[in-house]
Amino acid sequence: MLTGKRILLIIGGGIAAYKSLDLIRRLRERGAAVTPVLTRAGGEFVTPLSVSALAEEKVHSDLFDLTDEAEMGHIQLSRVADLVVVAPATADLMAKMAQGHADDLASTLLLATDTPVLIAPAMNVRMWDHPATRRNLATLRGDGVRVSGPNEGGMACGEFGPGRMSEPLEIVAAIEAALATGPLSGRRVLVTSGPTHEPIDPVRYIANRSSGAQGTAIAAALRDLGAEVIFVTGPASVPPPPGVTVRRVETAAQMLAEVQAGLPADAAVFAAAVADWRVENAGTSKMKKVEGRLPTLSFAENPDILATVSKMGAGRPGLVVGFAAETDDVIAHATAKRARKGCDWIVANDVSPATGIMGGSENAVTLITADGAESWPRMAKDAVARQLAERIAAALGAG
Ligand code: C5P
Repeated sequence: MLTGKRILLIIGGGIAAYKSLDLIRRLRERGAAVTPVLTRAGGEFVTPLSVSALAEEKVHSDLFDLTDEAEMGHIQLSRVADLVVVAPATADLMAKMAQGHADDLASTLLLATDTPVLIAPAMNVRMWDHPATRRNLATLRGDGVRVSGPNEGGMACGEFGPGRMSEPLEIVAAIEAALATGPLSGRRVLVTSGPTHEPIDPVRYIANRSSGAQGTAIAAALRDLGAEVIFVTGPASVPPPPGVTVRRVETAAQMLAEVQAGLPADAAVFAAAVADWRVENAGTSKMKKVEGRLPTLSFAENPDILATVSKMGAGRPGLVVGFAAETDDVIAHATAKRARKGCDWIVANDVSPATGIMGGSENAVTLITADGAESWPRMAKDAVARQLAERIAAALGAG
């Protein structure tokens, strides 16, 4: 619930602005008050009348409105909220925010505010992928701005790809997560999860049996303690938790790129089952069956994401946690792995088929730190996740 919370909602100029009308309703249903700000371009897509009728508040749109200024100055307006939400955040608004422009009411409020900011980007896929937008996004993340979406799918302009604004309920979940108070409030944690798929050709791939259940539970537990969670997931069989920033990938190489784009972070938890190898001679067209001839696949080593981040020097998260799925000699192998990879902790588990852990709902783990090995009783993956999240909070001095 958002009872008693005030959201300053800046509606930018994109077709997704229509979803912001529903967002206002959803926020109001949950007890939040919404102060709406409509940019000039936003006003081309939704009317001030619809916005103010749904918010049951006056819409602000003009920097030099004398009545507004007499009632509540724009600096004051930027600070009365618990959270500033920009939805849709257009490429132009993101650029203005990253550069610190203040040439209209929305950008001035964003520059003047000392309140946390959440953006829900929405734009054409090419604009989203453009290096300028990538740079602006990285700058905004570095400035502590939270990001919801965008989602992948068909777009109003007829193209397909990432750029669709998050759905209203996804933005609500991100708002609830941003306002959650807990020991990890104000901290950012990156989590990898799920398997990776390494293509053989456009229709075949090599994968593993990871369901993503443990990584998903860890992301949810960190979110519940108030952390901003960047969740980089391979093609898992469980859906990502609401209220986290989801980055979907297929291959290990893509996972490394998204992890690097997701930093800096206070802590990083590498729960993904990353494929050790990729097919070096993966084809761009489907391999044909040839009578009497078997194909030969040659392999190349994948980047070790955990080791890369553990050894990155400047910008390394303060706490790096790896996982070790072993089938025998669990503690000895995991202890050696901790040293080899250079991470701070290893969460080791026995995934021999008899345990039913891989793909199951329970886990029995041993936490390996510089102080030694600590075996936890077998419990639900959710419970393992909560205990681990609490240990992470304590280690970050946030307990
Ligand atoms: O070497 P192994 O796969 O057993 O190590 C497991 C740990 O390393 C996990 O935390 C996993 O997420 C991480 N890992 C990685 N990149 C790889 C291989 C493993 O991040 N290429």
